[in-house]
Amino acid sequence: MNTIWGINVGTHDSSISVFNKSRNELDLVFAAHGERSSRIKNDKLLSHDVFQQAIAHNGAKLPGEVVYYERDLYKRTRQLWARQWKTALRKPFVSSYLPSYVQDSIHIPYVGQRESSIEHHQSHAAAGYFTSPYTDAAVIVIDSIGEWATLTIWHGEGTKLKKVYSQSYPHSIGLWYSAMTQRVGLKPNEEEYILMGWAALGDPERLHKEIYEDFFYKLEPEWPQVKFKHNLHRGCRWWRPELNKVKDYADIAAGTQLVYEYVFDHLIKATKKMVNSKNLVVMGGCALNCVANSIAHEAYDGNVWIMPNPGDAGSSMGAVLAKEKQFIEWKGPYLGFNIRGDYPVKELLQELKTNRLVGVANGPAEFGPRALGNRSLLADPRGADVKDLVNTVKKRESFRPFAPVILEQYASEYFDGPVGPYMQYTSKCRYPKEFPAIAHIDNTSRVQTVNREQHAGLYELLKQWYRETGCPMLLNTSLNIKGEPMVDTEEDAERWQKKYKVKVFTKSK
Ligand SMILES: [Fe+2]
Repeated sequence: MNTIWGINVGTHDSSISVFNKSRNELDLVFAAHGERSSRIKNDKLLSHDVFQQAIAHNGAKLPGEVVYYERDLYKRTRQLWARQWKTALRKPFVSSYLPSYVQDSIHIPYVGQRESSIEHHQSHAAAGYFTSPYTDAAVIVIDSIGEWATLTIWHGEGTKLKKVYSQSYPHSIGLWYSAMTQRVGLKPNEEEYILMGWAALGDPERLHKEIYEDFFYKLEPEWPQVKFKHNLHRGCRWWRPELNKVKDYADIAAGTQLVYEYVFDHLIKATKKMVNSKNLVVMGGCALNCVANSIAHEAYDGNVWIMPNPGDAGSSMGAVLAKEKQFIEWKGPYLGFNIRGDYPVKELLQELKTNRLVGVANGPAEFGPRALGNRSLLADPRGADVKDLVNTVKKRESFRPFAPVILEQYASEYFDGPVGPYMQYTSKCRYPKEFPAIAHIDNTSRVQTVNREQHAGLYELLKQWYRETGCPMLLNTSLNIKGEPMVDTEEDAERWQKKYKVKVFTKSK
């Protein structure tokens, strides 16, 4: 058996994925974000701790092979072109980020290192396609920038993944969305999700035309190309400086989101034209835009797969899958550091009934930006004051709603629209007045459904909660505060509990 590590290091959102390969079976045994163990948000490095976790969670096995995400030299050509001299010329090579004991373990005498690298977009596409339930699918990857590609379309057939369209820097939808994020005073490359949420508070009609005309060349029907009038790599703070009030910012957010949805819809239509398949895989950082994802869901009648970690962090997994060209059995996103012990159903239920808010850190941490029950802050979603209560604890903007987690069998009774186990789509909440904490201002919710197979502990908690209260859902948000990585270990959980005065349970007593 050979252990293969996928490594994303040296750019934002470092991560590591661990696979075991025996004969032709490929098994994903561990995957974690660098930030969770280093406690540095979007950490570009992998700490000693995360390497140790990767080894410990795989029976003390060191890797025999390493696959890097991104082609380092190729990326440097783009950085030189973009005049990022310092980065292009001085940044250490990726292999230097590996500790010496890993370097030694992948070294074969007289042969050299067993290591390789995979292109940025190919890793994204493979992370989606080879974890999907499809053996035939169109794959669309939209992000900011890797080496050169910014938008690619692929056709997956059997174990072949063929690129059918590619668009390069500086024309980048992701860079534009990040530039608009920065334009309204938010942090680019991190707070795009806040812009998306802010959009519901603004008037999309006021600025969408100007945004489209000032930044985009006209889209051609049925051809995926999306060309920009400016290189937005360094932002667009220069754009319409007179728009500087809070109301203007909300309207910019709303206009930006509307234009994004228009462009995304255009890409979906062009993809349908280019790739003859009834299935779609969406990947890249832009696949975190759950409002737009609902468009894809409708266009492909629900035959859509978005791996729950579609951004760069998920590509440590994609790099290995692209190299091996092999499907894996997707068992869920619970792949990180494991806090062992039974899910504390009894304790959580009791605390929810008395204090309405409780933290849980149990089992393997989620691999992806969303907490889905193992590193979650759960709350009673009923009542007008819950949103403020949770937003205060989390130090978040007061307008931002939370997501609900609901027993799968009750989802359609409470929500109208696409739902799923990973909070990837938005749907209409049928009773926003009763559940204001989990419905946005436009009455939409980002729903997580759960069944027994997906998460037995969370399912049991919701069942008991329903039995006692008649409410089949809870509010579910990540166990962190704004700008801080999610809790990873038991020590983190204890620290969090002390600091923010909310009980966090790690196992059943
Ligand atoms: Fe990317």
